[in-house]
Amino acid sequence: MNMYDLIMKKRNGGILSQAEIRYIVSGFTNGEIPDYQMSAFLMAVYFQKMNMEETVALTLAMADSGERLDLSAIEGIKVDKHSTGGVGDKTSLILGPMLASLGIPVAKMSGRGLGHTGGTIDKLESIEGFCTTLSGDRLIRQVNDIKIAIAGQTANLAPADKKIYELRNATGTVDNESLIASSIMSKKLASGADVIVLDVKTGSGAFMKTPEEAERLARCMVSIGDMAGRKTYAVITDMNEPLGNTVGNALEVQEAIAVLQGKGEARLTEVTMELASYMLIGGGGAATPEEAKRMLRETIDNGTALDKLAEWVNAQGGNPQWIYHPECFPKAKWEEAVYPAETGYLTACRTSEVGMASYLLGGGRQKKGDTIDPTVGIRLLKHLGDAVSADEPFAYLYGNDRQKLEEAKQRFIQAYTITQRPMRPSPVIQTVIAPQ
Ligand code: URA
Repeated sequence: MNMYDLIMKKRNGGILSQAEIRYIVSGFTNGEIPDYQMSAFLMAVYFQKMNMEETVALTLAMADSGERLDLSAIEGIKVDKHSTGGVGDKTSLILGPMLASLGIPVAKMSGRGLGHTGGTIDKLESIEGFCTTLSGDRLIRQVNDIKIAIAGQTANLAPADKKIYELRNATGTVDNESLIASSIMSKKLASGADVIVLDVKTGSGAFMKTPEEAERLARCMVSIGDMAGRKTYAVITDMNEPLGNTVGNALEVQEAIAVLQGKGEARLTEVTMELASYMLIGGGGAATPEEAKRMLRETIDNGTALDKLAEWVNAQGGNPQWIYHPECFPKAKWEEAVYPAETGYLTACRTSEVGMASYLLGGGRQKKGDTIDPTVGIRLLKHLGDAVSADEPFAYLYGNDRQKLEEAKQRFIQAYTITQRPMRPSPVIQTVIAPQ
């Protein structure tokens, strides 16, 4: 077997065998296949696509490229969740404590953000002292003790995906269904949970711009999960505007706390409840979405989910008082009111541009190792469909640098389209795909 022949085979529309795909993945991971050949191969996949068998083979080869986390020492059905990425998405911080307070073990490896906003790990690190580097043993012990742990992905979890994803980012080959599905599912399979709930985003802030594309990706990932023996659900959710009222790391943690205090923004609460309900059903804690949502709602009403968040923060070295006193979170130096370009109705949002505004303030990273400023970000006062007036702020930006604030403000204002006619925003939950 040699890489040149395999590039040609895919370039010409051929179907690769499992052995050929394993050869490519292991050869690239151990350095025998150079970046230039792998780049050419990825571009061939981008144009010629992969069928389901090839996509499953690619997923399994990447999942097996490092260590698989063995969670069998955790009692009960372990649940995990993954989002395909969006702006203002802080659902893991909310649903984790809700499920853990109901006794469902949440064991999750999470990534750092690359691009406009931070990932779950970056958000958690905005809590003083919070440690996201946990060994496999410590993660298992903590989940057995308090039912929840979220840790940064270890270097040896699906290392092939890490290397390939970096190359895809640099070669314009990210947004391909098979490459996204195999990238996400390889990490989920290697992370060891029994139940996987996928939040597949669609819209202007998502990889998949249309609901049809999102549904195809979702079905592909659910099939991979099922074939690998994991109970996998996918919920397709709207990302035509940021989720909730905040974008930015510490601001998003504070918003997660507000949801657990029963003061959540409607769309954020709805998405979180939907995802959590399938995690609860998959984990054996409820029979129907209605029953699951009622139980989840109770964890907010009786304060057990908020207490669980504080317990979890404490277990990972953070200061639990910050959960009960969110005013402890450090603030950015400047708060800037932002006025809409004109009076009317918010009818469209280029969501990734809102993410870029947060990035310009210092809330994201361009490359691995860049530092994130946890204090900066955006607070939205209005959502799609709302009336806005040119005399009233429709958002606040938070920053530590006047010039960056000004740049971010322009970018933010231009992200929105305002018209004179009201519009009805798309439903935030679009489709649910359950295991066969
Ligand atoms: N998230 C991933 O982990 N991989 C992709 O390819 C896209 C989003």
